[in-house]
Parts: sequence; structure tokens; C-alpha cells
Amino acid sequence: MMTTTDYRPGLEGVVAAETRLSHVDGQAGQLLIAGFAVETLAAQATTEEVLGLLWHDHLCTPAELTAFQARLAAQRTLTPEIVAILRMAAARQCPPMDALQLAVGALHLEELHALEPYAQALRLVAVLPSIVAAYWRLQHGHEALAPDPQLSHAANYLWMLTGQPPGAEAVRALETYLNTVVDHGLNASTFTARVIVSTQSDLVSAVAGALGALKGPLHGGAPGPALELVFAIGEPSRAEPMLRAKLERGERLMGFGHRIYKVRDPRALVLQQAAARLYATDGDRQLYDLATHVEQTALALLTEYKPGRQLQTNVEFYTALLLHGLGFEPALFTPTFAIARVAGWTAHCLEQLAHNRIFRPQSRYTGPGGREWRPAERREARV
Ligand code: COA
Repeated sequence: MMTTTDYRPGLEGVVAAETRLSHVDGQAGQLLIAGFAVETLAAQATTEEVLGLLWHDHLCTPAELTAFQARLAAQRTLTPEIVAILRMAAARQCPPMDALQLAVGALHLEELHALEPYAQALRLVAVLPSIVAAYWRLQHGHEALAPDPQLSHAANYLWMLTGQPPGAEAVRALETYLNTVVDHGLNASTFTARVIVSTQSDLVSAVAGALGALKGPLHGGAPGPALELVFAIGEPSRAEPMLRAKLERGERLMGFGHRIYKVRDPRALVLQQAAARLYATDGDRQLYDLATHVEQTALALLTEYKPGRQLQTNVEFYTALLLHGLGFEPALFTPTFAIARVAGWTAHCLEQLAHNRIFRPQSRYTGPGGREWRPAERREARV
């Protein structure tokens, strides 16, 4: 039995849940998603197939898949109330992650919390891309577009963002990204979601809370800064001095390091390969080459400045490159991560509810005891 003296900052190494959804082996650099290696699943499956796998624990048959796609597509439409909230947020130039959280909270207006958890999950996963895309357009002076139920989950997101029919290459690249980051063990936002539903709260609240956890730069907020760094470096010869200067100032290099992975994050390779394919067709090849040079330089410098820390490339570095190749601006990176991860969050919520025990860890008290109470007029001024 653990005692309060076993305090582990950041709960490092503490097992706080059992899950069939994903397994991260940080020493071997392997990620299993519902039994499949991420390398197998990400580049081949559609987003709907991965979602079916997480929620139903098997690969859907073609008939099941058609029915599932239709059920999901039927849940994409935004209510006028949500569009009005997004319009207000856009008028204030609210950051997209905050607007997304506002709109998810507003799903309470649909009394979504009164539905079965599975129905809540369906609506949440289907509607998040519509919210992000609508907000992006409103923020940039365009009207929000209606979803197209004939399009796949990923294709519809691209359509709702741009108003252009998306090409097959772009859809495949986006699906590969969404599949790669769909779930990842008990990361901070997933843990948040599980803690919230463990109180028998609803999935809308769980997803709103998880969004709050995801937006922090130590979790899902890193890819924007990672890309900005590559742009700021601009050319290969500047990589070494600029990265060295950052490390000398004690700054962190975004896109590197991970609590669990002590070798290269396997998702980085999947995304690097997807980015290489995308940039080979119509991307900025120079940028791709610069990014790989920045990565190699950063890894060498991290070994020099943080010996023994085993800091490797994480998922965010190539996320940034892939999403940029798809024409996404950095402000869309974390919301797009949320569109992927909401599938994992909701699957974890359903799993938690099936075998629920409320999370209630302990804390170790470090404050004083036996303080003497005095009425306000008898308190002395503190120096
Ligand atoms: N750049 C430079 N130094 C880094 C670093 C990075 N990206 N990541 C960790 N370190 C250093 C820390 O400064 C610390 O050094 P010290 O012991 O000399 O003080 C050491 O490595 C251990 O860091 P710690 O914060 O204990 O690791 P963690 O497991 O708590 O943190 C991250 C994991 C992901 C939060 C961390 O690596 C990080 O901040 N990375 C950059 C942000 C990022 O890419 N996030 C996306 C994650 S998918």
C-alpha cells in the first residue's frame, strides 16, 4: 500500500487506470492503439475506422462502417446558439482553443448531458471539427459553412475550413495525423477527462476540462512554437547558434523531450513519413529539409546540454510540419489536435464509466500546525 511519503511529483510512474485503448512503451519507443502498432494503423485506417475500434473494440465490417459513418455525419451540424457564441468570440479575437472550450460548454444548451454517454460521445466527436472550422472562418471574416454529410470526417473538416473540395492526398495526410495522435495512455488531458467522469459528471464537462488541459504548452500547445522556431532559424547555418543560445538561456526546445519516451517518439516517424509524402508532391521541400536539419542539430545540442536526460524528438515537431503542409496556420494546430484526441477522451470516459471508481488520491501536507487564531484588530502588521 502506498503511503503519503511515496509522493511522486507529476504522478510519474504511478499507475492510475487500466485501459485497453492504448499502450505506450517509452523505453522501446512503441505505441499500441487498441492492439495495433501506430505505424500500421495510422497510415492505412480511416478516422472512422479508428474511432470504431476505440469505441467498439473491433474493426467495423463494411456494413457497420457505412452505418457508423452516417450516424456520425448526422451529428455535425452546429445550432444557431453555438454559431452566435462563436461569432461573439470572433468579435473579441478569442484564441481558437478558448472559443472551442466555450462552444463545447454551450453543448449543455442542447441538454446533451441528459443523453446516454455513448450519444454524448458521438455528438462531441462529430461536432468538434464543425466548431473549429466555423470559428476559423468567422475569425477571418467569412461565414461558417454547413457540413457535408457525404464527406468523411477528415474530408468534411477540410471542406468546412476552406470551402474547397479536398484532394485525396490532403485527406490521407490529415487522417494519418488524426489517427497518430488519437490516444496516448494516461496523458494529462485524458487523465483530466477520466477524473471528471469518475464523479459521474457528463462527457461535455469531461471534454471541456480536457480541452483546458490540452491547450498548455507542455501538452498540446507545443507544435505552434516548434514551427515558429524552424521559421525563425530560416536557414541551416543559423540552426546551431540559435538553438545553442536558447539552451544557454535555459529555455526549452519545443518539440523535444517527453515524460514517457526516452527514445524517439514512434509517432514522430509516422508523421515525418506523412510529411515527406505531402511535401514531395506540392510542398516546400526546402522547409522540410530545414526542419530535419533543425531536428538533428537540436538532438545533438540536447545531448550536450542535458546529458543523461535522453531528450528526443516528440510528436509535436512533425505535427507542425505536416499541418503546415496542409495549409494550416499555427493557431489551428492545437484545436486540430483536440479534434483527434476527443476520440480518445470519449473512449476513455466510456471505459471509466464501465468500471468506475471515483479518483481521490491523497496529498502530503507541508503547511504548519497549531497556529493561533487572532481577531483582525489584534493582528500585527507583517514586515
Ligand atoms: N528542451 C530543453 N531541455 C529540456 C526539454 C526541452 N524540450 N525537455 C526537458 N528538458 C530538460 C529540463 O530542463 C530538465 O533539465 P534539468 O534537470 O537540468 O533541470 C530535464 O530535461 C528534465 O525535464 P522535466 O521537466 O523533468 O521533464 P518532464 O518529463 O517533466 O517534461 C516535457 C516533459 C514534454 C514537459 C518536456 O520535455 C518539455 O517541456 N518539452 C518541450 C515542450 C513540448 O515539446 N511539449 C510537447 C510534449 S508531447
